[in-house]
Amino acid sequence: MSLNQQSEKIVVLKFGGSVLRDVHALRGAVHEIYRWRRDGYKVVAVVSALYGETNRLLALCESVCEDVSGQAKASVAAIGELTSAGILGVQLERAGVPACVITPASAHMLASGDPFDATPISINAQAIRDALDREGVVVFPGFVAVDEHARLVLLGRGGSDLTALFLAASLGNARCRLLKDVNGLYERDPQGLTPPPPRFADATYDDALNTDGSIIQHKAVNFARSRSLAFELGALNATTFTRIGPGPTHLVQEPAPPAPRTVALLGAGVVGGGVFDLLSKHPDRVRVTAAAVRDVSRHALPGVRISGDALEVAASGADIVVEAMGGIDIPLEAIKRALAAGSHVVTANKAVIAAHGPELHALAASRGVRLLYSASVGGSTPVLEAIANRAAQPNAPRLTRVRGILNGTTNFVLSRVAHGDTFAEAVREAQRRGFAEADPSRDLGGLDALDKLRVIALAAGLGEIHNPSLQPLSDAALAGFITRPANTVLRHVAWLDAYEGTPKAGVHLGAIDAGDALFDCPGAKNTVTLEWSDGLTHTIRGSGAGRWPTSESVVADIFTLLRETRARQAASHHPGAVA
Ligand code: NDP
Ligand code: HSE
Repeated sequence: MSLNQQSEKIVVLKFGGSVLRDVHALRGAVHEIYRWRRDGYKVVAVVSALYGETNRLLALCESVCEDVSGQAKASVAAIGELTSAGILGVQLERAGVPACVITPASAHMLASGDPFDATPISINAQAIRDALDREGVVVFPGFVAVDEHARLVLLGRGGSDLTALFLAASLGNARCRLLKDVNGLYERDPQGLTPPPPRFADATYDDALNTDGSIIQHKAVNFARSRSLAFELGALNATTFTRIGPGPTHLVQEPAPPAPRTVALLGAGVVGGGVFDLLSKHPDRVRVTAAAVRDVSRHALPGVRISGDALEVAASGADIVVEAMGGIDIPLEAIKRALAAGSHVVTANKAVIAAHGPELHALAASRGVRLLYSASVGGSTPVLEAIANRAAQPNAPRLTRVRGILNGTTNFVLSRVAHGDTFAEAVREAQRRGFAEADPSRDLGGLDALDKLRVIALAAGLGEIHNPSLQPLSDAALAGFITRPANTVLRHVAWLDAYEGTPKAGVHLGAIDAGDALFDCPGAKNTVTLEWSDGLTHTIRGSGAGRWPTSESVVADIFTLLRETRARQAASHHPGAVA
C-alpha cells in the first residue's frame, strides 16, 4: 500500500499580501511550503495578490468606467491572485518542488451572491485531493470563485482568508494557517512596541471578530465558526502562532525577537552562492558574516568577509557553518573545527557524511550542536526527512528497500542522449548547468549515488554497505541497450536491500517501463521509492541537483536551526499565561 495516498496530513497555508510584497517575496512562500513538505504534509498554498495589486487593479477598472459593476471588477481584480498563483508555481519549479496550480474555475469552486462579496458554496475537493496525492503541493488563487454561470466573482476584501478556510473545511477540516507579517493576534497593535504586548496563544472566534478586520476577514471567521473549524494565524517560519477556535482565550508574554544569527559559508560556488542569495533576502533572521573560497580574487559578496582559509572560517564561531566545498579531507577537518567551536553545521556534502557520518554525529552530540545534511541526498527531494518522520512514529517500521534515481547528472545525461545529444555533449551540458560533481566520474561511475545510499543507510540505522555493485554509465554501457523494449526509458537505478543482515546495494543501468515509479522522472529530477517493514511504500519526487533545489534544501536546514533556537529561547523565557 502507498503511504502517498494513505497519509492524510494536509495543511492549507494562506499567504497574504502582507508577506507577498513582490515577486521575489514569493520565494519566502516556497521556503514555508517546503518546510511543511519536509514535515510530511501535503500542502495547499492559497495566495493573495501581491501587496497593493488589488487596489491598483480596481483603480485601473474605475479609471475606465465610473460605475463599474461588481462582475466587471471581479474579472479584473481576479488577475492579481491568478498572477501570484502562477508565479508561485514557477518559483516552486525553480526550487525543484513538485506542485500544480489549480484555479477556482478548474476546481469548480462555486459561489453565490454579490459578485464582489460572494459566498462559497461548493468545490470539487476530490480534484484537489488527487492533485495532492500526485504532486504533494497545490497552489490555489484566493479571493476568486465562479458563479453558476461560470463568471468570475470575488469573496469580499480579504477574501483569500475565506478561500483558505473553505478549502480546509472541504478537505475534512484540514489544518489551516493564515500567514501574515505578525506572529499572531496581539492584545493591541505590536508595531514598534518592545517588548511586544501579550499575544493570544489561543483566541476565540469573538476575539478575532473584535479586531478591525484588517488582520483576518470577519466573514472568514464566521465561516470557520459555522463549521467548528479551528485555524492558526502566524508568520513565516514561526514556532509560535495564535490558534483561533472555540477557546478559551489564553494570552502569553513572549520574548523580544532574537538578533539575526550569523552564518559562515565554506564554499561560494553553485550551492554556496545560491545559499548566499537566498539568505540575503532575510536580514532580520540571518547574516552571512564570512565565506571561504579557493580563489579570493574571483569572489565578492556584499558585507561578507572573504577568506582563502576554510579552516579559519570554520572555527570563527559563527552560529551556523554551511559547508559546500566538495571533497572529503578539508571538509572533514573544517566540519570538525566548526563543531568543536560550538557552531551548528549544515552540509550538502554526501561524500564526507557517507565516509565519516557517525564520527561527526558523535562530535556534534558531545558539543551540544546539530549536524544537518538534507541537501546531501536528492537536492529538494526530502528523502532523509521522510525516513526521520517514519522513525519518529510509535512502533517505527524498518526501512527494508530503497530504489531510486539518486543522481541528477546521470539522469540528465540519459534524457539528453534519448533526445539526440552525444554522450560527451550531454555530460558537458550537465557540468555547465552545475549538476555534476567537480569530478563528474563520481556521477557517471555511480559513486555519487552510492554515497547517497550510504547516507540513507546511516539515517535509517541500517549499518554499513559492503561490496556494492556498480555499473558505470558510459557510451559502451548505453550501446548494450540499443535494442531495449519499446515504451521503456533508460535509468541509472540506485538500490539498497536491507531485509536482513547487512544491507546490499548497487547502481545499475536498466530499461524501465511505463508502469514503474521511476519512468516519469525527466532531466535532473530524482525519484525514490522507500519500502518499509509494515508493507507501506513511499515514493518521493523532486529535483536532484542544481543551484536552486540544493540551496532550498540547505536553507530549509538553516531555518530549522533558527526555529529550534527560537523554541529553546521561548522555553527558557518561561512564558506564563497572563490571562
Ligand atoms: P562548486 O565547485 O560550484 O563550488 C565549490 C566552492 O567551494 C567554490 O566556491 C570553491 O572556491 C570552494 N572551495 C573548494 N575547495 C575549497 C577549499 N579547499 N578552501 C576554500 N574553498 C574551497 O561545487 P558545488 O557548489 O556544486 O558543490 C558543493 C558541494 O555540494 C559538494 O559537496 C557537492 O557534492 C554538493 N552538492 C552539489 C549539488 C549540485 O547540484 N551542485 C547538489 C547537492 C550537493 P572557488 O570558487 O574559489 O573555486
Ligand atoms: N552531482 C550530483 C547529482 C549533485 O548530479 O546528483 C546532487 O547531489
